[in-house]
Amino acid sequence: MLVTLIAALAGDRVIGEASGRIPWDHPRDRAHFRARTAGRWLLVGRRTYLEMEGWFGDRTPIVLTRDPAFRPFSPGHRIAGSVPAALDLARANGVTELVVCGGADVYAASLPHADRLVLTRLALSLQVAEPVHFPDFASTGDWRLQSVEHWPAAAGASPARLETHVRTEK
Ligand SMILES: NC(=O)c1ccc[n+]([C@@H]2O[C@H](COP(=O)([O-])OP(=O)(O)OC[C@H]3O[C@@H](n4cnc5c(N)ncnc54)[C@H](OP(=O)(O)O)[C@@H]3O)[C@@H](O)[C@H]2O)c1
Repeated sequence: MLVTLIAALAGDRVIGEASGRIPWDHPRDRAHFRARTAGRWLLVGRRTYLEMEGWFGDRTPIVLTRDPAFRPFSPGHRIAGSVPAALDLARANGVTELVVCGGADVYAASLPHADRLVLTRLALSLQVAEPVHFPDFASTGDWRLQSVEHWPAAAGASPARLETHVRTEK
């Protein structure tokens, strides 16, 4: 099973605010995220899951939480108490690609298991009081940039680069 992390990053790898908000609106990235996750099994942290209430549609989220009493919004949504337990659950259901959708804690905990990173790099510098970050994956030396797609500025949204990184052989 492939494990793919998908995220949108502003400058300094900022992905959101500690209060639980993404401080930008980027329609092309939203469309990309919808398309790339359609029909898939997703791994999401409990905080991000609660922010995304009502959004999941045909996707199957596994909610990562240490609270075994946590009840998801829909009976089709699953919970797991650790990343390895989530991977086992997905494999047991015949999933061929698990898409990790954040937030920061979940990206960090999943990175050692990841095969591929699909990152929207927004040309945006933000002043955020309590930023949360995507992990510093590049400094590990484990990743190779496989492809880049350039998105020009459009309708008030910043230009961006869609990068796919793949794990190098070890
Ligand atoms: N830009 C992007 O692409 C993007 C994508 C997603 C989210 N975000 C942003 O990220 C921020 C949220 O990130 P966050 O780090 O605060 O929260 P999060 O990762 O969404 O959720 C954190 C919660 O997940 C559970 N969890 C995390 N790691 C775990 C582990 N290893 N094992 C078991 N459970 C685990 C815990 O739940 P319990 O407390 O229930 O135990 C923890 O409190 C928001 O600002 C959101 O908007 C940005």
